[in-house]
Amino acid sequence: MARIELCNLEKSFGAVHAVKDLSFTIEDGEFVVFVGPSGCGKTTTLRMIAGFEDPTSGEIRIDGRVVNDLEPRDRGLGMVFQSHALFPHKNVAQNIEFGLRMKNVPPEERVKRVREVAEMVRIGHLLEKMPSQCSGGESQRVALARTLVTNPSTFLLDEPLSSLDAKLRRELRAECDRLHQALKRTFIYVTHDQEEAMTLADRIVVMRLGEIVQIGSPMEIYSNPVNYFVADFFGSPSMNLVAGEIVQANGTARFRSASFDVALPDSFKAAKAGAVTLGIRPEHVGVTLGSGGDIELPVRLVEPLGKDTLLYFDAGVERAFVAVTEGLGMAEIKAGERIALSFDRRRIHLFDGDGLRIAGAR
Ligand SMILES: Nc1ncnc2c1ncn2[C@@H]1O[C@H](COP(=O)(O)OP(=O)(O)OP(=O)(O)O)[C@@H](O)[C@H]1O
Ligand SMILES: [Mg+2]
Repeated sequence: MARIELCNLEKSFGAVHAVKDLSFTIEDGEFVVFVGPSGCGKTTTLRMIAGFEDPTSGEIRIDGRVVNDLEPRDRGLGMVFQSHALFPHKNVAQNIEFGLRMKNVPPEERVKRVREVAEMVRIGHLLEKMPSQCSGGESQRVALARTLVTNPSTFLLDEPLSSLDAKLRRELRAECDRLHQALKRTFIYVTHDQEEAMTLADRIVVMRLGEIVQIGSPMEIYSNPVNYFVADFFGSPSMNLVAGEIVQANGTARFRSASFDVALPDSFKAAKAGAVTLGIRPEHVGVTLGSGGDIELPVRLVEPLGKDTLLYFDAGVERAFVAVTEGLGMAEIKAGERIALSFDRRRIHLFDGDGLRIAGAR
């Protein structure tokens, strides 16, 4: 059992207001990912939960009990840090069993538990090795095993995979997912990688400048971002964002910018005229050769990725406008050719001058 409540948590380091009035409950067995840009307060929040940092104000409760004054070791949590510093003069087995020694677990029991968790993260063959003989991914697994062996009610993971290459990251990410399902424990995972957040989380907490911006399932966050920041942060390639204005004419709303003039869906019929940003994800833009569609634009660059092809367009805005098509069907298109783009009406987002999403009926 571990239900973790954060109540009006605040943390200041001198003049730096690192965490601002953060309230949120992590349910027992949930996999929650805190995500946001560098410096937004993720590590500070995790360290306060773990007990390594005292909140300036606010409360942390574990299963209903206020733990602000409890030492880290008495909170029943296990933390894996970004820099997973192993003891260099102890071998892998000794590194893993360290937490058990601290708890005076008898030697036979220690050997058995070390073997179990080593098998669980697939490092059973490495127990005799020294940390200097392990690869980055292996060391990361040892760090995970070292926490696993103490059998915590909750895992606190601070960018545990950040030092690995893309392939290993994906592999160990799958491992974390598997462990969560097997152990049925609470996981709180911190990352600034939106893809990691999307693939691992039951719920994502998006942070910015010390505050929670949005909480939701990966699909909610992806499909209904509350503002421009969240829309831009999630998705690769990013959502297309084009500054322009809403124009009302003859009972229909249109979006206009230097190179766009697009009829908006009926759900925006009552939207106020004025400056807005239109957002649409690359996969929601249909492409056909020639004329027609909502707008026509010249191709700037074609990027065949194998499974998909990305098409970049000049749209008179800072960032190229991007569309994605399946397979290599469009890979032969040359720069300069004109393409007809049509927007999936239900997937158009509009953001107001403050960056907030304007609700259209869906
Ligand atoms: N011990 C400290 N003393 C002073 N300022 C600190 C301290 N720890 C963190 N900060 C500041 O608090 C803010 C939040 O830092 P934090 O480490 O929580 O960010 P983060 O979201 O984990 O970022 P990253 O993705 O880079 O790890 C930053 O502005 C940071 O400079
Ligand atoms: Mg951090």
